Amino acid sequence: MTVEAFISSPYQQKPAKGSHTWKSPSNIALVKYWGKTAPQIPANPSISFTLNNCHTITTLTYTKQTTVNADFSFDIFLDGELKPDFAPKIEIFLKRIEIYIPFLKEYHFKIETSNSFPHSSGIASSASGMGALALCLMSMEREFVANMDDGFFLKKASFLARLGSGSACRSIEGPIVTWGTHKEIKNSSDFYGIPYTEEVNDVFKNYQDTILLVDVGEKWVSSTVGHNLMNNHPFAEERFVQANSNLSKLSPIFKSGNLEEFIEVVESEALTLHAMMMTSMPYFILMKPNTLKIIEKVWEYRKETGSHLCFTLDAGANVHLLYPEAEKETVLQFIKNELVAYCKKGKYICDQIGFGARKL
Ligand code: PMV
Repeated sequence: MTVEAFISSPYQQKPAKGSHTWKSPSNIALVKYWGKTAPQIPANPSISFTLNNCHTITTLTYTKQTTVNADFSFDIFLDGELKPDFAPKIEIFLKRIEIYIPFLKEYHFKIETSNSFPHSSGIASSASGMGALALCLMSMEREFVANMDDGFFLKKASFLARLGSGSACRSIEGPIVTWGTHKEIKNSSDFYGIPYTEEVNDVFKNYQDTILLVDVGEKWVSSTVGHNLMNNHPFAEERFVQANSNLSKLSPIFKSGNLEEFIEVVESEALTLHAMMMTSMPYFILMKPNTLKIIEKVWEYRKETGSHLCFTLDAGANVHLLYPEAEKETVLQFIKNELVAYCKKGKYICDQIGFGARKL
């Protein structure tokens, strides 16, 4: 689909007020998106597991104004508390999507949002948050047009979410979502995420993700700054080729359920993401000593037990531990015995693969 397809035709009606609530999950990338060009076009395709428990719930309440505002008019609340410091990010988002949702300046919006995970947990809420907000706006647009089909609704929600935060476009559907054009993935697009429709082995059903909270502070490097460091990065071109090839490798792995091969791709992707940050200018180390300790322990545990536990990382110090449901009991025991000591205040979050956003 082209970008133009997301520009709305003139609306037949515009309700005076209303409200919509959506719950949108977080996601964890297996092949990482790192590097972009304007407007939020990924430098390489990525693929993620949609999560189930880590989510944002957003209620969007809208009231038609008597005159069209000169600017966007909204208040944003997190857990009931007014958050003016969130406004600039929302403002940028609304500016980017205005051409596709042309009624924005005719309304005042109240955006009430809450996350299932604490704001200070170091887990990025931008994917689930922008996903939920994009879906609320789509529910609003759906009231304005007759017969919007579900496929278009979800695609446009993903398209809009991408303009808020790239990875948010993978937080609309589940359980596995790809984003970015890839020559072997039919209908893949740089503009929105699509659910992965090829055969997936049962071993990936209910795949577990336990998130070890190593560092719970504010992010050191914003993802915008991080992505931009891939411009003029000495290894960028190689990295983008590698991401495409890792995505090609995953298709037969999803089909066969070969977890040794899965682990190799996933861990290499995580370390490559961090290698890119360590070799950019300026350079960053976002892992903490405890991140490395956990990785070492995971490798030891795998060697000793033959487990299929593996790790992946976001642009931060927290560790996502991925493993099949069949190993849940033993891995959780291992986490409690050996890894909790490396978590901030002993905190970790148990999650698993999920099926996408839900209207409440
Ligand atoms: O969506 P952004 O711009 O916050 O970028 C997220 C990038 C990573 O989380 C590091 C990787 C990914 O693909 O999710």
